[in-house]
Amino acid sequence: MSTTRDVAVFVGSLRKESFNRKMANALAAMAPAPLKLEIVEIRQLPLYNQDDDANPPAASAAFKQRVQKADAVLFVTPEYNRSMPGVLKNAIDVASRPYGQSAWEGKPAGIISGSVSAVGGFGANHHLRQSLTYLNMPAMQQPEAYLGPLGDSVNAQGELIDKTRQFIVKFAEAFAVWVAQHAKT
Ligand SMILES: Cc1cc2nc3c(=O)[nH]c(=O)nc-3n(C[C@H](O)[C@H](O)[C@H](O)COP(=O)(O)O)c2cc1C
Repeated sequence: MSTTRDVAVFVGSLRKESFNRKMANALAAMAPAPLKLEIVEIRQLPLYNQDDDANPPAASAAFKQRVQKADAVLFVTPEYNRSMPGVLKNAIDVASRPYGQSAWEGKPAGIISGSVSAVGGFGANHHLRQSLTYLNMPAMQQPEAYLGPLGDSVNAQGELIDKTRQFIVKFAEAFAVWVAQHAKT
């Protein structure tokens, strides 16, 4: 029997009607059995301040502990100005410090970027990969997930259209294999 893997999911948009959040929720509902996906909120995090490393705010400490507990992580994010949104970068910074005590260390990662344009958040996806490389996180390379235009990926009820659903299932299956290969526990 395969081991259940705790996958912490981070959504790069705080918007109530966020397409990326809808995508993350759909993925959580469709992921193959070994993966147990949970969206971990990032909106409550104070801006990272190195002065607080020895005594971080409670919300930051709790967030870091949650990241530490995860077997793997998944980022589902829009692109803001050709990069990842600041809220997501802040969350990454918060759990990465103090130096040498990063909670991200070695965790297998997946990235889905999405935007309302056909570019599909390519810039955000690859800026994020830059940070994950530094943080020593094996980030799945294939299938690449640049979803766009996101407005065409959902129907009037906000449900994923079949083509997007099929792609998300394929992505989730590949990610389950990736996590099994790279998870530390
Ligand atoms: C501050 C800001 C910057 C944006 N920059 C980009 C961009 O660089 N590329 C792009 O394709 N879309 C960009 N967009 C449009 C987003 O793709 C669109 O708002 C999308 O719906 C955001 O994802 P969400 O629905 O999950 O909130 C930007 C939107 C905002 C609010």
